[in-house]
Amino acid sequence: QSVYKRGLKYEKPAFTFQSDKWEELACQRMSAESRGYVYGSAGTRETTDKNRAAFKRWSIVPRRLVKTQQFASLATKVLGHDLASPIAMAPIGVQRIVNPDGEEAATRAAAQCNVPYILSTASSTSIEGVAKANGDGQRWFQLYWPSREHDDITASLLKRAKDAGYTALFVTLDTYLLGWRPSDMDNGYNPFLRADQVGVSIGFTDPVFQSHFKEKHGQDVEENLSAAAAEWTRLVFPSMSHGWEDVNFLQQHWDGPIVLKGIQTIHDAKKAAEVGVQGIVVSNHGGRQQDGGNSSLGMLPHIVDAVGDKLAIFFDSGIQGGADIVKALALGADCVLIGRPYMYGLALGGEEGVVHVLNALIGEMEMTLHLAGLPSVDKSVLNRSVLVREED
Ligand code: FNR
Repeated sequence: QSVYKRGLKYEKPAFTFQSDKWEELACQRMSAESRGYVYGSAGTRETTDKNRAAFKRWSIVPRRLVKTQQFASLATKVLGHDLASPIAMAPIGVQRIVNPDGEEAATRAAAQCNVPYILSTASSTSIEGVAKANGDGQRWFQLYWPSREHDDITASLLKRAKDAGYTALFVTLDTYLLGWRPSDMDNGYNPFLRADQVGVSIGFTDPVFQSHFKEKHGQDVEENLSAAAAEWTRLVFPSMSHGWEDVNFLQQHWDGPIVLKGIQTIHDAKKAAEVGVQGIVVSNHGGRQQDGGNSSLGMLPHIVDAVGDKLAIFFDSGIQGGADIVKALALGADCVLIGRPYMYGLALGGEEGVVHVLNALIGEMEMTLHLAGLPSVDKSVLNRSVLVREED
């Protein structure tokens, strides 16, 4: 309604409400390097394409003559936190490559829309800087986990996050190393190594990393930013250096819920429950890591059947519009993470662009539920009975 009313006064939205056009529009706006990094995927984009295709296999079946007072309630509770709606912003690194205000603009938008913001370890803004911009918003911290020989750096990051008001820890497990990404390779571009352009502020501002760097290179971080960027990148992508038993270290150093991100198998979901974390993100990193993989949505119901009663289930990879969110929730996700769409909003309009994307997704989700005759996102009504599987 408010959009149409603004239209009567000739006030146009920041950019289109057609969420399937955001990618194309943003790609026209971004530099070749940023476009390659954000839109880019692993290998031949097979996993990314499957992520999208999986949503089309499910259809939402509407119910009629459902008497409800008003629009569906989106409020929910996840990890013991009250959320205004079942969405959060996925952790995305180096956001300054698409907008000079980067994470600060995105996190302000998150607070404005009442959506939790997950800060990436690969952020181009510091933990404290993002906390300040986020203000009273809900914020969670994503860890790229240094190898155990650098436990002191990990502990320092966790402490800083806790002190700055981040209330949940997301640990990303699908990024042993950055994936095989032809677009970045063609551009010779790894944003983490471009300290001059985007920095890797979380590392550069970390006192334990600073002294580690000084000991190893005999220089301060500021004296050799490019070597520091390379060192930090090597540290946070330490290849296959952790096992399930190491999760215990994080539990000892993080007082709050822990969520393992990048889970794609029933086996790993059960292991997560076994080691006693509070949640998982069913995610394949938007198809950016492993090519030739399965769709993330395809695995969701199987994982929900295995551990949905024990763990909070987050979902991402391939969400483009409000109906996609409804489908993921119907298949058993408690909360979905929005990935590329908000980076496109950031590229197209900074803070205002991210607000536009979040409001559009929330509004469309709300309308989709209403038209399907669903009064809330509660599992008693929003469940698999709402979907039919289309024949291939
Ligand atoms: C990511 N993602 C990501 N994940 C993470 O845990 N830490 C990170 O630093 C990043 N960085 C990052 C950069 C960019 C440019 C993208 C597009 C993605 C993955 C992200 O959290 C999420 O899993 C995917 O974006 C979900 O897929 P869609 O929604 O983009 O299809």
